[in-house]
Amino acid sequence: MAAPGLRLHVFPDAEGLAAAVADSIASCAEADVRTRGVFHLVLAGGRTPRRAYETLRAKSVPWQRVHVWFGDERCLPGGTPERNDTMAMEALLRHVPLPAEQIHPIPAELGPDAAAAAYARELASVPVLDLVLLGLGEDGHTASLFPGHPALRDPRPVVPVHDAPKPPPERVSMGLSLLNSARRRLVMAAGEAKHAAVMRIRRGEDLPAARLAAAEWYVDAAAAGR
Ligand code: 6PG
Repeated sequence: MAAPGLRLHVFPDAEGLAAAVADSIASCAEADVRTRGVFHLVLAGGRTPRRAYETLRAKSVPWQRVHVWFGDERCLPGGTPERNDTMAMEALLRHVPLPAEQIHPIPAELGPDAAAAAYARELASVPVLDLVLLGLGEDGHTASLFPGHPALRDPRPVVPVHDAPKPPPERVSMGLSLLNSARRRLVMAAGEAKHAAVMRIRRGEDLPAARLAAAEWYVDAAAAGR
């Protein structure tokens, strides 16, 4: 079912978008730790979130009660610059007092199938994910769920992705069922290159990102076509 009407928040530029995402993460973390004692945060990959992660370093976050997960990962050796967890470590995680055992990378170096099974086992102990950050591809993909790809229909919580159209071809992704079982979803899109995908979803096209239930969309003016 495509998104009937996006909950769109438009910011003047990528910097304003990053600041708003960082504020939203910090306020969700504070509220959840205060009321539930823990905050399970799922980080997005790609380039868009980097500035938000850098901005988040300066925010007041109860890191001792935070667990960090990843929405998807590329099947590359650990520490490779192109991995999503490498970017998150550089932009945020090594700069904040988050206990190492509360950072949960996807073991994507094992390959899609073994890594997906291992991550699903690790996630089984989590009652609910609190906030999932997601990016948007120019084709409307999110995490590593691409248009027309069988992974999009896979009911498992964590799915192997072979032959992904965005390199590298082998990936691991949280599945739509898990993404939509989280308490909140926040999609980030910045730049003119994302405008077409945003418009296609606003018009009701059934692209992968449109299947995210009740997501908050944080976009800059360029992605909104303003
Ligand atoms: C990945 C990401 C992917 C990304 C979008 C947007 O591993 O590539 O998970 O879903 O979020 O492709 O990427 P950019 O933010 O770099 O435009």
